[in-house]
Amino acid sequence: MVGLAWLDLPEDIDEGYLKEIGETARHLRAISEVVVVVGIGGSYLGAKAVIDALSHHFSQLKINGQAPTVLYAGHNICSDYHADLLEIVNEREYSVVVISKSGTTTEPAIAFRMLKQNLEERYGKSGAKDRIIAITDPKSGALRKMAENEGYKTFAIPADVGGRYSVLTAVGLLPIAIAGFDIGQLVKGAKAMKEISENSTNIHENVVLMYATARNALYRSGKKIEILVNYHPRLQYFAEWWKQLYGESEGKDKKGIFPASVGFTTDLHSMGQWIQDGERSIFETILSVKNTQKRIDIPYDGDNLDKMNYLVGKSLQEVNKQAELGTLLAHVEGGVPNLILEIPQINEFYLGQLIYFFEKACAISGYILEVNPFDQPGVEAYKNNMFALLGKEGYEKLAQELKSKL
Ligand code: PA5
Repeated sequence: MVGLAWLDLPEDIDEGYLKEIGETARHLRAISEVVVVVGIGGSYLGAKAVIDALSHHFSQLKINGQAPTVLYAGHNICSDYHADLLEIVNEREYSVVVISKSGTTTEPAIAFRMLKQNLEERYGKSGAKDRIIAITDPKSGALRKMAENEGYKTFAIPADVGGRYSVLTAVGLLPIAIAGFDIGQLVKGAKAMKEISENSTNIHENVVLMYATARNALYRSGKKIEILVNYHPRLQYFAEWWKQLYGESEGKDKKGIFPASVGFTTDLHSMGQWIQDGERSIFETILSVKNTQKRIDIPYDGDNLDKMNYLVGKSLQEVNKQAELGTLLAHVEGGVPNLILEIPQINEFYLGQLIYFFEKACAISGYILEVNPFDQPGVEAYKNNMFALLGKEGYEKLAQELKSKL
């Protein structure tokens, strides 16, 4: 059963749990140049969102960069992707963290089957065992059974914490710790937001309630699409995590805001036209960052052929900020309501705050919309068809029906 236990995770996570994750991460870091995180949906997006947000933009090319590199598998079934991945891991020392709450999801199961065999061929059964960590249901599912049979180190996803609400368990924390980031600060940030979210039931004083109610009010006024906007490429996967959280939680019973995202100013040169002038069914939520970590100034150029000398002395962040402000004013003028969420900077603490903020607002928003924000019945339709088309036992009747339509 999926419930509300995720609400208390920031307080329930104790030092012992963080220590165990830290030790496991240190072990994998010591023996791996690459760690492959196998999972799909809520079982990988939170980790990737945080790791990408905190990493050097070009970490994979950095000389003497911090090992290990975290790669991902089992979030698609593309054979080229997985063949390329096998090629890369075969040239390096590697380990695998396999994450599946149900333990039966097709995509990660296939990827893990391949990687497990590869590890066993390379390091032997016992060597492979030392390089595999399984994160799954405490009791049930194929992955739990396999982990017990093989003797893998495991972490349990609490039964009443759903996949997309599980970043603050080992699902997110272990990969983030492996990548070298401070999971204690992440949890602290989440805890701080938990307190903020409980400070008042007045929507004008409580940011979580304010966001949940504002987006629902906009939805009811005909704004059916919410675009999460950022001005920092490292937040791209944070937006992917947000889309999955809101899309799977709210899109049901023929209702729900469609969650989309853009990265500005890049997408001002693609989606900018549509947003400024297209159908007025959208609103934007800007994920604004007050300060960047690194300062870089616009240089002087004697020829000034590009006419950019008026920017000399200004920092790139200042230019980016004015682009943000200018775009906000233009879009509001063009009939696109804008909500602004500002964090002081991108670090573990504020990402922890944001994760808890969005999770809690999502659940409240789902209740306002009168849908169950914790299930995802619609995801089964494609799976059933795929199983039938692939000839899985028990799906013969559906296979017949589908074939008659093709
Ligand atoms: O949020 C969810 O529940 C889903 O996105 C799941 O995380 C996703 O389908 C993966 O499921 P599992 O962890 O059971 O493999």
